[in-house]
This record gives sequence, structure tokens and C-alpha cells, in this order.
Amino acid sequence: MEGRKDVIIHAQDITKDYRIGKSTLRVLNGVNLEIYKGEVLIILGPSGAGKSTLLHILGLLDTPTSGDVIYRGENLSKLSSRQQAERRNLHFGFVFQFYHLLPDFTALENVMMPRLIGQKASSQLNGKTGREKAIEILDTVGLKERTLHRPDQLSGGERQRVAFARALVNDPDVLFCDEPTGNLDTKNAREIQDLILRLNASNDQTFIIVTHDENFAGLGKRQIRMVDGRIVGQSTTVPQKGEG
Ligand SMILES: Nc1ncnc2c1ncn2[C@@H]1O[C@H](COP(=O)(O)OP(=O)(O)OP(=O)(O)O)[C@@H](O)[C@H]1O
Ligand SMILES: [Mg+2]
Repeated sequence: MEGRKDVIIHAQDITKDYRIGKSTLRVLNGVNLEIYKGEVLIILGPSGAGKSTLLHILGLLDTPTSGDVIYRGENLSKLSSRQQAERRNLHFGFVFQFYHLLPDFTALENVMMPRLIGQKASSQLNGKTGREKAIEILDTVGLKERTLHRPDQLSGGERQRVAFARALVNDPDVLFCDEPTGNLDTKNAREIQDLILRLNASNDQTFIIVTHDENFAGLGKRQIRMVDGRIVGQSTTVPQKGEG
């Protein structure tokens, strides 16, 4: 373990520009950020601040105009897109505001999907088949009785829990969540919060969560605030790890 041992992702001087006609729109303006293994990091900020763009770049769903994303000491920005896709599938999970479930498939099939895509994943996960693993995770998120429901046969909160189960099926190290409770009522938002805290505590998974919900923000030990493509402030309680 080189460098600072608790850093899992290090974003270095990230910029993102969009060309609009003849002019250039800079939506990320030199973002530097260290994310610690096992933390729940909350990203706050007004609409248009660049939160989703940053989340997508950290998670390799989008490429920066300049700058690097270092994951466990490896510069992912230097990899081919095929290698990036492999890292993403094996190590990262994603949850979005509007679930993005496949409508024609059951909850179980939706959750199994990343296992089917990641060929390597099947051999890496304790000999469990995709189906066994998917059922186990649906149980973890409280949906064991809903495995054969299609998305249109589930409530919003249940759909989001299926989306979490899908994000978790390859045992990712890092979960990227973009406004995961943005479409839910208070009760369902609460359940998602509890789920995140449970997973974070039991699996030591790292969560990076974009939210507008100030209640939700309280669940992270560290909150960063973005404005105009920059990090303008953070309240920090670096997780106390490895004290022994
Ligand atoms: N493909 C694109 N082309 C041009 N501009 C874009 C593109 N995608 C995003 N932007 C611009 O980049 C800026 C940051 O967008 P982003 O989605 O990251 O904001 P956000 O902080 O997530 O906002 P919200 O809270 O509304 O989700 C916005 O001003 C947006 O208009
Ligand atoms: Mg956004």
C-alpha cells in the first residue's frame, strides 16, 4: 500500500469542458479530492454545480477533459476504455435518481444483469452463481418476496432497493449514488439511508452520494460542497481507521 493507505480514490486536477458552438463551457474547474476507504462522502451544491459530472468521472462513466482518477494507486484515466469498463464492472456500483431498471425484466433478472455482463465476476465471487447472489442481495435489501416482480409491479422505494441490489451484486468497493432519494418520500428515503449505513458498516463499502436532501447529508461523516465546478467547502471528519 503506497501513499496514504486510507485513500481509495484520488481525483487530481479534474476539469471538464463542453464545446457549445464556438465557445467552451467549463463545468469542472480543477477538482482535487481524496476519498477514503469505507467513508460515506456526501456531495452537495446547487443545480448545475457539476456534481453529477464529477460523480460520473470518478466512476469512469465519463472522461475528464484533463486530470486523473487514481483508484488504489492505479491511474484509471490512463487505461483503455475496455480496461476501464472492466474496472467499473468489478469494483464500482451505481445508483441513480430514476432507478434505470430494465422494464421487461424481473427484479431478480435486473439484479443479475451485472453478473452476466462481467464474465470474470462469476468466478470471483465465492463460487456463488449470479442467481444465488442476486437472491441473497434482494434479501439483504428486504425484497425476497418481490424477486419475480417487474419494475412496474413495484413501488418507487422498492424499485430503488432493486437498483441498490443491482449495484451491489458484484460486491463493489465503491458505490456511486446520484440523488438516490430524490424521487422518494420521507419514509422510503429513510429506508435507503438505513440500508446505506448498514452496508457501509457491515461490508466496509465506500459511498459517494450526491444529494439535495439535507437530512440525508447528515448521514455522511464528510460533506463537500460544490459551486460552479469547484469544491468550495467541506466539513470533515476523516473516518478513524486502522488505529491498531
Ligand atoms: N453534455 C453536456 N453538454 C453541455 N453542457 C453540459 C452537458 N452535461 C452537463 N452540462 C452542463 O454542465 C453543468 C453541470 O452539470 P451537472 O449535471 O454535473 O450538474 P449537477 O450539479 O449535477 O446539477 P443537478 O443538481 O441539477 O443535478 C450544467 O451547467 C450543465 O448544463
Ligand atoms: Mg446532477
